[in-house]
Amino acid sequence: MSTAGETLGDLTKRQLENLCGAVGIDPDDPSRLLGDVLGAARDRPLAGPPAWPSDIADDATPVEFSVQVNDGGDRHLRILAETLPADPSPTANLRAAKDLVAALAERYDLPLDRLRAVEDLFSPDEPQGRFSWWFSFIFDAAGRPKFKVYFNPDVRGRDRAEELVEEAFARLGLDGAHLTVSDYALRRPADRLTFFALDLDRSPQSRVKVYVSQHDAGVAEVQHAASAAPGIDQGQVGDFCRLLAPGTERFTGRPLVSSYSFVQGDREKPSNYSLYLPLRDYVPDDSVARERVRRHLRERRVDPAMLDEVIGALTDRDLASQAGLLAHVSLRLSPDQTGTTVYASSEAYGGTKN
Ligand code: TRP
Repeated sequence: MSTAGETLGDLTKRQLENLCGAVGIDPDDPSRLLGDVLGAARDRPLAGPPAWPSDIADDATPVEFSVQVNDGGDRHLRILAETLPADPSPTANLRAAKDLVAALAERYDLPLDRLRAVEDLFSPDEPQGRFSWWFSFIFDAAGRPKFKVYFNPDVRGRDRAEELVEEAFARLGLDGAHLTVSDYALRRPADRLTFFALDLDRSPQSRVKVYVSQHDAGVAEVQHAASAAPGIDQGQVGDFCRLLAPGTERFTGRPLVSSYSFVQGDREKPSNYSLYLPLRDYVPDDSVARERVRRHLRERRVDPAMLDEVIGALTDRDLASQAGLLAHVSLRLSPDQTGTTVYASSEAYGGTKN
């Protein structure tokens, strides 16, 4: 929680340092990157309004934290963020994102070939939709960052989303991927492409990821979406939904989101499926959210104490006062590994609003 006179940068840095403590990594690099990505928003006092209605979080905070836990127990800290310039606008925000990519590429020697191959598609003169480019920083056990860039398929208008994503896949040598996505996850008008994302690293596991928001879906629809990924246990998708949102037949609040990852060597079929459940819309408050996530972690044989460490790193508010701190929970399924990610809001601007 913020204290008098505190800036967005101060509060989120404190939260991030606490989270670094919880996952056991050195906070230096993460803090520097957080400052970089906050950009001109960093020094704004929290007593004033947000610089821009960022869609990263419900209350317009332009960053969101998450902790990924493999069923083996490994934890990775991540930051999802929108970078903001001094005078935000759709065009200026896109410019700021490109400048940040350039600075990070130089500092961390990032390979930009895949980004260069598709960036023009996602960089119109007048960007539309909720954002143009977002970032995530993923820290390994040694605290070293990996980078991911998210593009908005709606950036040239909603009606062009499929065309953009199909072209982006083709340019990346994944011609068959689009067909798989349309067959398994874009079957209804309420299924909408939401993000197209690239890992910026040289490893063979470097991913091309696509996300589909499945508005008003039930378990059957997302289970079908999961069946696109060979060799995974789709049944887990249903268990996950039933445990986190018991009694919910249709997810009519914020949508379930299905995502596929394609890596080198994948042709038309993805090597991973993940389901994101916007928990905050399916719980009365965060104390209930916490109970359900604890139960899920226990079932996956992950020590649920990790959840309280994450919550404690961010806030000391009464969890029963509102929902929204635990924004999403995701389940990642691949043939050789499963994992859970808990997305936790900074609530820099007071939490739930949007
Ligand atoms: N706040 C947006 C939403 O809830 C974007 C977002 C942030 C998101 N973190 C996410 C979407 C995790 C899916 C999963 O839609």
